Amino acid sequence: MTVGSDAPFDEPHDASPARTPKGMHDILWPESARWERLVARFAMLVQGAGYGLAVTPVLEHVGIFHRGIGEGSDVVGKEMYTFADRDGQVMALRPEGTAPIVRSFVQHHPVPPWKAWYVAPSFRHENPQHGRYRQHFQLGVEALGPSDADLDVEVVALAFEFIAGFGLQQVTLKVHSMGDGTCRPGYVELLRAYLAERRSQLCLPHQARYDQNPLRVLDCKTPECEDATEGAPRFVDNLCDPCTAHFARVRAGLDALDIPFTIDHRLVRGFDYYTRTTFEFASGAIDAAQNAIGGGGRYNGLVEMLGGPPTPGIGFGLGIERILIACDAEGVYPTEAPPLDAYVIDVTGGESAVLLTAELRRAGFRVDRGFDDRSMKSQMKSADRSGALVAVMVGAKELAEGTLSLRPLRNDEGQRSVPRADIVPELRALVRP
Ligand code: HAM
Repeated sequence: MTVGSDAPFDEPHDASPARTPKGMHDILWPESARWERLVARFAMLVQGAGYGLAVTPVLEHVGIFHRGIGEGSDVVGKEMYTFADRDGQVMALRPEGTAPIVRSFVQHHPVPPWKAWYVAPSFRHENPQHGRYRQHFQLGVEALGPSDADLDVEVVALAFEFIAGFGLQQVTLKVHSMGDGTCRPGYVELLRAYLAERRSQLCLPHQARYDQNPLRVLDCKTPECEDATEGAPRFVDNLCDPCTAHFARVRAGLDALDIPFTIDHRLVRGFDYYTRTTFEFASGAIDAAQNAIGGGGRYNGLVEMLGGPPTPGIGFGLGIERILIACDAEGVYPTEAPPLDAYVIDVTGGESAVLLTAELRRAGFRVDRGFDDRSMKSQMKSADRSGALVAVMVGAKELAEGTLSLRPLRNDEGQRSVPRADIVPELRALVRP
């Protein structure tokens, strides 16, 4: 089963060892071809803005997520895969990409500004549904060093440009500011007092624990909490002066770049590390519960939380599966495997195919061939199924005459014979006219 098809993701799970674990998927050809293209496009874009690839382990010590993301968050408290390894160390499968990248910054202390990008599997023990998996892949960037609001604009603009490149029409960008250590505590108190007066109107779980983290209530999707917070005090009205100025500059930068956005006063996101700017891209073409195709924000305290020197940071993570689901829903960015140029069919024992295939591949053609000395009919069937544009055939007659037969497989042009020595220009004329 591949992500992006209409596969029934909530089918009853068969725990047989010959199947992927629940909520995890194989990504196979030809679906994998558009993954490759997507990742290559992202790499081109962000490398063009000075970001270098960072590859970190899938496993980390659990502490970096406890300290960085927060034990009260759903991702750490309810969804993280943790286990004691054979040395008794408690490890976690990475649930997201930011804390590991920041851990690597603290460990290797590169000179800031330091700009990293990544493509990484992330693991969350969720209730799997279409668009919500136990293993998903994130493409992301993290930029460490500058506190400049113009970097926020750069980071948001990179994500915007990448998403816009798919031709998606129904994606919207929401931005918000969550303040910092100066103004956030005051705002949280204001919100707590507001919620205390409306406690009985909140959903049951939040009636019990709204005061542990009042910000979570803003994010709660139940109609009760949504109604109760309708007139809640807004973060943007309670920011300190530096946070207000920072947010104004971010908005002005996005306006200057013609990037459309709305301010979402409920956008508090699920991790404790965020400060100031947060943002999210949502697709109107997919299920509301899983409509976030990417999100990010500033985290000016995270490096210190993980033991490094005070260093601001900002980044985003985009869910590859969700981007592809949004593309399918809007009918853009179809799965297209690059076709083979040629399929070599040799019914004279196979030696000619060894040389011919190597020669054509060296000349830059995409080529496959038949094996096991099968019949002409059987190899021709394989050639057809391979999607190759041309069959290059060697039979007893061709071998004796020093020729090859070329048969175009995707149009009505007839078969013709060419001198063996001319195969490269002859094939080029057929497949790259
Ligand atoms: P996040 O919003 O938790 O942020 O995840 C980023 C994106 O990953 C989501 O918008 C969504 O597209 C995708 N995603 C998350 N969970 C799942 C899932 N269970 N199944 C499928 N897709 C999923 C972060 O992880 C932050 N580290 C982003 C960030 C980077 N903030 C600053 N820098």
